Amino acid sequence: MKKLVIANWKAHPENAAKARALAQDTEVAIAAYKNAEVVIAPPFPFLPVVGSLLTRARLGSQDVWGAEGPYTGMVSARQLKSLGVGYVIVGHSERRIHAGETDEMIHRKVAAVLRRGLKPVLCIGERERQGGEVPVIVGVQLSSALKGLKKEWLGRLIVAYEPVWAISTAAGSTGAATPDSAFRARIYIEKTLVSLFGARTARDVRIIYGGSVTPVNIAAFLAESRMNGVLVGSASLDAKKFGQIVRSAAEVARR
Ligand code: PGA
Repeated sequence: MKKLVIANWKAHPENAAKARALAQDTEVAIAAYKNAEVVIAPPFPFLPVVGSLLTRARLGSQDVWGAEGPYTGMVSARQLKSLGVGYVIVGHSERRIHAGETDEMIHRKVAAVLRRGLKPVLCIGERERQGGEVPVIVGVQLSSALKGLKKEWLGRLIVAYEPVWAISTAAGSTGAATPDSAFRARIYIEKTLVSLFGARTARDVRIIYGGSVTPVNIAAFLAESRMNGVLVGSASLDAKKFGQIVRSAAEVARR
């Protein structure tokens, strides 16, 4: 199965002209590596311009609100869909921290995204680095976000394990989780999904890793940690580096 590589541009770049240039450069950098599923998630204002340029990559958004209505500053799942968005990042730790998002809000967002036929990329992960066992908070975040959802929707769900301490560590691969700890988190997430929805449904959910992914460490996360893909922040702002990441993902999938 193709590996999934999602570019999370966060609040970058600073204007539409630069967003256009980054999208174009990224398309060129990934063009040759067809054996990977690629998504680009720019900030809301750049969705139309980036969406109009993409041929190889799919369009994603970094957040969502539920429905249309009296929700100043929010963007609905249907509005995103109308712009060609197929994937929606939900519950990113930066939204939990800076925008005070709770598990209950994240649950409603995941449900809204699934109800509209889009693919949620649900981010979960512990804040502090801990040795040994996968922290219980990872299971709590997962179960709260998914409680009561229809089983038949879950084939579209993507769970991103992003230990918060491993995000944006500028130092590159040294700050990422180890492939071994990511593998343990994967198994833990799989088990939690099985207990919530049964083995058959759990099998369809893709589990990806995020946190200081680079061209150097990506192969280990895909091969050793058995992740179905990666969520890439800072390295996605450099089209060349992002192209190398997609190349690795395409190569791992072929093996
Ligand atoms: P990073 O960000 O690759 O810059 O660590 C990943 C993320 O926050 O999704």
